[in-house]
Amino acid sequence: MVDNHESTTSGKTKQKLWDGRFQEATDAFVEAFTESVSFDKRLAEVDIRGSIAHATMLNTVKVLTNEEADAIISGLETIAHDVREGTFTWSTALEDVHMNIEQALTDRIGDVGKKLHTGRSRNDQVATDIRLYLRQVCDGVIHQLTILQLGILGLAETESETIMPGFTHLQVAQPVTFGHHLMAWQSMLERDMARFADCRKRINVLPLGSAALAGTSYPIDRELTRQLLEFESISTNSLDAVSDRDFAIEFAAAASLTMMHLSRWSEELILWTSAQFDFVSLPDRYCTGSSIMPQKKNPDVAELTRGKTSRVYGHLTALLVLMKGQPLAYNRDNQEDKEPLFDVVDTLSSVLIAFSDMIPELVSKKDNMLRAAATGFSTATDLADYLVRKGIPFRDAHGIVGRLVSESEKQGVDLADLSLSTLQGACQVIEDDVFEYLTLTGSVNARNHPGGTAPSQVRASVAAARERLQ
Ligand code: ARG
Repeated sequence: MVDNHESTTSGKTKQKLWDGRFQEATDAFVEAFTESVSFDKRLAEVDIRGSIAHATMLNTVKVLTNEEADAIISGLETIAHDVREGTFTWSTALEDVHMNIEQALTDRIGDVGKKLHTGRSRNDQVATDIRLYLRQVCDGVIHQLTILQLGILGLAETESETIMPGFTHLQVAQPVTFGHHLMAWQSMLERDMARFADCRKRINVLPLGSAALAGTSYPIDRELTRQLLEFESISTNSLDAVSDRDFAIEFAAAASLTMMHLSRWSEELILWTSAQFDFVSLPDRYCTGSSIMPQKKNPDVAELTRGKTSRVYGHLTALLVLMKGQPLAYNRDNQEDKEPLFDVVDTLSSVLIAFSDMIPELVSKKDNMLRAAATGFSTATDLADYLVRKGIPFRDAHGIVGRLVSESEKQGVDLADLSLSTLQGACQVIEDDVFEYLTLTGSVNARNHPGGTAPSQVRASVAAARERLQ
């Protein structure tokens, strides 16, 4: 609930936490223009956690007495409870999440609440909040990516022998196993996961103690605050710590790359569920119909994933542009980091939920895949490799097979359907063992090395990936 009944344009009726020097109340428009509580209230839980750690530290260094710290901490806990229950009343007149909570604390425990903000500023407070929030988000995303990968691994194992066409230029190139294709997606997601883990390291640094920009004159113990908030290290420069949002940009960049991968994947699902390909079917509950065409089953979740990728890229750009013009240290511009960042988080996590649920239920249409793999002369490279094994230089073999492809096209058949005499007419070294090399199974089985498409290699890479995900 956001309540703005306290805002006013006439007379100085509302006391702001910072209005000591002001002669008139904030203009209602300015209040609405500058508020962030409508979206940064999402940070309430981490804001309170940061405040409790700060108060605990102030108590340890004797800036707060035991009684003062106890009152502040239990007051903050009652606020945390109300926020969780959804009964806390937010006020836009109080601008942001930080001042809403601080004001509520003073309302609840009296003047001692006013001591919480000793030795800190909203500048180091908000930087701390975003880092605490994003650290949690990274853990959640890494978990979601793990679940999705486990789903892919299960499917890849079942589909390790299923043959489908592999494409280059979206033209049939060589047969591959569907399991191998699925493992390509797993490889991308594994790198994505590593990017989040890496970006988490730079998120996991404590800015609190930097105060407004220069540090504070109180005898603070930043190492204690660090321990309480479980940060890996403390920031080394106060000007930098209150102002930079590079860690949020890194997160948005990692999210953009993951969305790029999911969007490519979506594009394939969209193609593969079309009548023209008809390689897979998606569960009905993941598709929608058309209001006019009764036969339609549209892959909307995949299409929207492809579409939503654009907004994540937009937010990454917004964050980069937000920072590029800012002199040190904190500027109010930084308040604009939150909406893009939150939308990146929400978009990415909704797409990951959808994929984790949808992918394990993907059903392959093996006959259609096999039929498609048998078209387009997908074993032409295997024939060239056969000739090379019989002593023909690769470039010559390439030419011979090219002529045989042209002959097959003329006859309207596949390479494997040409007669032995036709094959021998093109090259005398060909014997009747050639046909086993021209089969799709022979072709995939032959690519039997780490990273290759052979079923045994797919099973090995599934096992290795499962091991890494443990
Ligand atoms: N709502 C502000 C933000 O998100 C909090 C920091 C405000 N600091 C200030 N000096 N006005 O950036």
